[in-house]
Amino acid sequence: MQLKFKKSLSNKDNHLILPIFEDKKQSKIPENIIALIESSKKNEDFSGKSSETHILTINEPGWPSKLVLLGLGKSKDFNNAVARESFATVVKKLKPQNVGNIIFNYTSELGSYGQAIAEGCALGDYHLGSYQTGKSEKKHKSSELKNLIYFNDKKVKTFEAGLNKGLLIGSGVNFVRDLVNSPSNILDVAEFAKHARSVAKKSKSKLKILTLKEIKKLKMGAIIAVNQGSNDGANLVTIEHKPRGAKGDPIILVGKGVLFDTGGYNLKPSNGIDTMHMDMAGAALVLGVMSLLNDLDIKKHVIGITPVTTNMVDANAIKPNDIITSYSGKTIQILNTDAEGRLILADALTYAQKKWPKNEAVINFATLTGACMVALGDRYAGLFGNDQKLIDSLKSSSERTDEGAWPLPIHDDYFEAMKDDMADLRNIDRGTSKLASASKAAAFLKHFIEDDTKWAHLDIAGTGFVNRPKKYDYQYATGYGVRLIIDFLENC
Ligand code: BES
Ligand code: ZN
Ligand code: ZN
Repeated sequence: MQLKFKKSLSNKDNHLILPIFEDKKQSKIPENIIALIESSKKNEDFSGKSSETHILTINEPGWPSKLVLLGLGKSKDFNNAVARESFATVVKKLKPQNVGNIIFNYTSELGSYGQAIAEGCALGDYHLGSYQTGKSEKKHKSSELKNLIYFNDKKVKTFEAGLNKGLLIGSGVNFVRDLVNSPSNILDVAEFAKHARSVAKKSKSKLKILTLKEIKKLKMGAIIAVNQGSNDGANLVTIEHKPRGAKGDPIILVGKGVLFDTGGYNLKPSNGIDTMHMDMAGAALVLGVMSLLNDLDIKKHVIGITPVTTNMVDANAIKPNDIITSYSGKTIQILNTDAEGRLILADALTYAQKKWPKNEAVINFATLTGACMVALGDRYAGLFGNDQKLIDSLKSSSERTDEGAWPLPIHDDYFEAMKDDMADLRNIDRGTSKLASASKAAAFLKHFIEDDTKWAHLDIAGTGFVNRPKKYDYQYATGYGVRLIIDFLENC
């Protein structure tokens, strides 16, 4: 979607969205149109509650034939979340009518909400990839609308800057949704690498892809173990954004990239296994964030790392009880082959800290546990870490962006529970493995974090892929985390 501005309307414009507060009268528009709105309110066709929409057909010279009333709720309750949700709702409503553009009336109350408004429009415009035959087989585009147009008597610079930023971020989120929604036979290891390459190119970042051969040479035993049932190779992808003038040590983002998780010999049950192409939502989030940093002019040194593989069943696959040596040198007894995400993350976290021992923070994202989903549902990611300031700062970004994250604990005893009697570590607890399994997964990761590394882990199993979407989301992939991390990078 491109941003445009319009000073005057014409009958060629097929609609105009009028954002309306529950407790405010419209100004700036002709009296007879105001009267129409007031009578819709009187007839109780429209009250102005947030995200409420009502379409009026009018016959007014020089005006579009459709006026789309969009409720914004009470003005004192208006915020970014309401703006994002309301505009996403109206876009979803208009999209099936092939409107082409989204045109809305600007009023000064909207002035500082440009980013949220455009995010809502871009997110509401998402379009799931289609592999259906018979339709014109054009290349998939995750958004369909052409222009986002605001109608006002003059340009409003700061508002435009907000809108442009929101459109950019929205397209980054839609890119992540596309990756996460892709079936794993289509988004295989090579295809993921292609996307990483184009992200690096577009964002003028440095790219390094370690292939399975190099991963073996470096003795990244945990990635090798998860990958050994697969015939599709494995990659460790690193994208580095280091703009001129970047200050401070790098912030390192690490994302779990399991392109399909069968569970391995601890095979997943039929019910739910079909969604396991989403087990790379952490890696997709990292690519999405990296794709935006240059365009958003973020003057920070940021590194994105994603281990990428599938977790398969095969004669070569790891078996429960096998003992392997991770890249850190620590040995791990794999008591459950379905706890594979923490294994590939362990090696990726070691790689990150070996390569950049001086860093500002390491933050990882992973669809790590069903338990986190059970505890927090699809509205909060689990937020773990070893540094209160880092956790607080991620929590604040979560609140500002309406991408829920809720702190969960790592008890010292859970950290102890991940120590094995044969190997240094075990990948699941023995005996009480069902208890606090999201926290124990985090505890396992913590074993691979150096004492002086500030680290946080977001378990996005519940938020990355949903059946009951938020107003600005669609069923399946949400693109969760991009907005949160961009906000974090802008404010940390
Ligand atoms: N990818 C899954 C976690 C998951 C489950 C993500 C449901 C999204 C939806 C992960 O690899 C896994 O299988 N975890 C196990 C851990 C267990 C063996 C300790 C789980 O959560 O059951
Ligand atoms: Zn698993
Ligand atoms: Zn998994």
